[in-house]
Amino acid sequence: MTKTKIAAASDVSADKVLKTSANGQKMLVAKVGDQYCAIANKCPHLGLPMAKGKFEDGVITCPFHGSKFEVCTGKNVEWVESFVGMPLPGVAKKVMSMGKAPTDAASFTVTQDGEDLFVDA
Ligand code: FES
Repeated sequence: MTKTKIAAASDVSADKVLKTSANGQKMLVAKVGDQYCAIANKCPHLGLPMAKGKFEDGVITCPFHGSKFEVCTGKNVEWVESFVGMPLPGVAKKVMSMGKAPTDAASFTVTQDGEDLFVDA
């Protein structure tokens, strides 16, 4: 793994995620409280990008089927809840999950050196 600059701290705000990459891995950086965090921009459900999902209270919602992940840990907190923003009933959730069990997303530890943010990736 190599320490790679992903953003300037001043480019990251608390109300939205910033798309970036390190060594070919696409990721989203966000500020949660006083902490900078990064999560893979690849939903573990179907591998689709999460960058356009809603970001609130440190959690990003995948815009495709509503799975939710903590940006700082990658922890899955809801799994396949909707289809392009429309809530799904229980049976439809099972169908839409396509047999995939709830899975955490990859997350990355962000370190700050001066004004710059880095990850090991
Ligand atoms: S691709 Fe993200 S929840 Fe389905």
